[in-house]
Amino acid sequence: MSSTQHSASSDQPCLLALESSCDETAAAICTLDGRLLASRIASQIEIHRQYGGVVPEVASRNHILHVRPLVAQVLADVGKTLGDVTAFAATSGPGLVSSLLIGTSMAKALSVAENKPFLAVNHMEGHLLSPFMNDNGPVRPCVALIVSGGHTMLVRVHEVGRYELLGRTRDDAAGEAFDKVAKMLGLPYPGGPEIDKLAQRGDPAAFAFPRSFLDGASLEFSFSGLKTAVLYELPKLNVKNEQVLADVCASVQAAIIEVLVEKLVLAAKRSRETLVTVSGGVSCNRGLREALTARCAKAGLHLLLARPDLCTDNAGMIAFAAVQRFNTGHTSPLEADVDPNLSLVS
Ligand code: KG4
Ligand code: ZN
Repeated sequence: MSSTQHSASSDQPCLLALESSCDETAAAICTLDGRLLASRIASQIEIHRQYGGVVPEVASRNHILHVRPLVAQVLADVGKTLGDVTAFAATSGPGLVSSLLIGTSMAKALSVAENKPFLAVNHMEGHLLSPFMNDNGPVRPCVALIVSGGHTMLVRVHEVGRYELLGRTRDDAAGEAFDKVAKMLGLPYPGGPEIDKLAQRGDPAAFAFPRSFLDGASLEFSFSGLKTAVLYELPKLNVKNEQVLADVCASVQAAIIEVLVEKLVLAAKRSRETLVTVSGGVSCNRGLREALTARCAKAGLHLLLARPDLCTDNAGMIAFAAVQRFNTGHTSPLEADVDPNLSLVS
């Protein structure tokens, strides 16, 4: 289990949030001014690795096992009791229905028991706002790139709750491209971090894998051609050779990165926005972070990256998004249902 703790006095009003949309069970506590006090994650990666991907039934059973101890642990981390919590929140979508139900049922039960408000949070809004968690400033207008296992989106943020979709993937998400290529290479699930690691030792120019810019002006993405290109190249290669494997990983990663970085810069220019943010599991990628830093500096853009431990799924980002909503007068009815396809933009 991983945890983050920050010093805090126990009299600060706070919100407790749960995340259980996929294969991580997580709980976090955030002050109402948006400071993360405690964050714990019970990862199920080892369990699902043997199946090569997430098995929904197995995920929800494990969420049930982990959710109560996690709540107790984050409360203990900050020396608070349930009675000290001002509001409870949970991810209500998008994600696996049977997994979403565990976190939301728990958060609703806590809010009924403590007679405190409940907030249903969009998982993608959690990712979207997460770069602002280490900024110490308010959420500000920006162009945001979200790159996760299920989504690749360019979003214009006008203010909290007012988002405009600029582009999304037409097929695979960036994380999905990493994971599918990794699977073809015989690497364990999830493939993104494995490719990241191997790419460090490889030559990004070894293979000229396609960069799908669609028509040059498009802000949409497509990664399925890359997957096919790797599939055709593989029979010609000996990926048992460590250097060949590292070169393939570095070249695939370079192809994904170039498209993500250039489309983000294009979106910012077109929106006349100087602040750009990047979040989601893929934003952990070291090559992507380096390329973004260099390219944004060159383009005169101010870049906010989600903190590495807040890139992949966690409840800290859910707590932070819930706080932003709560502070603008939002709460959710207890009847609010989970939605596996919940959209960020209406
Ligand atoms: O945001 P996330 O934890 O879950 C979703 O909401 O989907 O993202 C998970 C995705 C997976 O596809 C995983 O392979 C990818 O993020 N990922 C990475 C890295 N760490 C996680 N991809 C590339 N490089 C990484 N270091
Ligand atoms: Zn996610």
